Amino acid sequence: MDKNLSGITAILKKYNQEHLLNGYNELDEQKQKKLINQIKTIDFELINQLYQNTKHETKHEIGEITPIDYLDKYKLKDEYKYYENIGKKAIKEGKLAAVTMAGGQGTRLGHDAPKGTYDIGLDSHKSLFELLCDDLKQEGKKYGVTIPWFIMTSRENNKQTIDFFEKHKYFGYQKGKNIFFFMQEELPMVDTEGKILIGEDGLIKLAANGHGGIYEALVKNNMVKKMKQLGIEWVFIGGVDNCLVKMVDPVLMGIAIDKKVTVACKSVVKANPHEKVGVFCKKNGRPNVIEYSEITDKMAEATDENGELLYGESHILCNLFSVDAIERMGANPLPYHIAYKKAKYIDSKGNLIEPTSPNAYKFEAFLFDAFSKVDDMAVLRVKREEEFAPVKNSDDKGVDCPKTARALYKKFHKLT
Ligand code: UTP
Repeated sequence: MDKNLSGITAILKKYNQEHLLNGYNELDEQKQKKLINQIKTIDFELINQLYQNTKHETKHEIGEITPIDYLDKYKLKDEYKYYENIGKKAIKEGKLAAVTMAGGQGTRLGHDAPKGTYDIGLDSHKSLFELLCDDLKQEGKKYGVTIPWFIMTSRENNKQTIDFFEKHKYFGYQKGKNIFFFMQEELPMVDTEGKILIGEDGLIKLAANGHGGIYEALVKNNMVKKMKQLGIEWVFIGGVDNCLVKMVDPVLMGIAIDKKVTVACKSVVKANPHEKVGVFCKKNGRPNVIEYSEITDKMAEATDENGELLYGESHILCNLFSVDAIERMGANPLPYHIAYKKAKYIDSKGNLIEPTSPNAYKFEAFLFDAFSKVDDMAVLRVKREEEFAPVKNSDDKGVDCPKTARALYKKFHKLT
């Protein structure tokens, strides 16, 4: 037997994953080494456990759900200026950085490149990355600073992302000085029998571990260290696919500082009580986001004395963290959720299979699962039409698609 394989065959046998070596002899030497390294680093115990979870509906411990307090940005009156001044001072002192999570696969959009490179069809033909960057640069200018920008990619799209930035001269940013790229972790995908998939390249089919991988990725890639060296104290973390995301918001920052919370999140009010979005709440007294499927109709429709929904504050992936909070959240892994997805793979006969419907499990951590690790957080309701224009689906779906995002972007920026 190939001496490289000694030691791993027993592990593969134990976990019923011997098929991973089926195509080993056909791989070139470099790929053989890669495959072996992949196998050596897989936590088979974890993968086995995650696969077992797919077989029975995981009983989430619902706990005691109660509403969470929030502030409405446009009902703040005098406090608006008060918070804004606190935030402005901190931004001028260079204490804010922005993180864009761009490691996702963007399967629903179906764009054959990183989602951030997508042109939503404006006359300028700017990509999502450039739209986000325009806003960062413009805001930085207001405060006389360059807001450091950290971009999370995944192995699948890292090279394409960096090549794209390189081609566009980092939109005026300077790599390694004020713009940084780092990759998130990955987990193997498994089929419905629990077998780890082999991808088109003959290696293990890995997929990014969800946006909840952000904390661990920031810590493990020394980005937190970098932030501290730069004197950063606050970090806005958002997705790449909201073309109206407002990463620099002195009011949000002022609230976090004044209220001495380590996490401050933006929400938009639900479009209707049954909109299928996760909402902010408290679970057993701690901050949380609860999925629409986890609350009853009665809870979804319940209102307070002013007629406002008690569970109406949607989580829009626009969150501000203190650097210390990120460090704490990155110390331990978050729980993994299961997604059933389409994934190309090489079957046991060496054929490439391109499924037309979901065939494999992907395991993802959710960023908001870390919220329960803090005692308290601030929630700031903002206006949907000012801050939320997501690009999730292709145009034929008609919602949260390039067409709707483009219309919202144009309206907000008063473009014809
Ligand atoms: P979504 O959950 O909408 O996923 O990500 P997605 O990958 O963009 O699209 P689908 O579900 O495959 O169609 C929300 C944000 O989180 C980032 C995405 O890039 C997007 O900015 N994300 C998601 C990551 O950075 N890593 C992940 O593993 C998942």
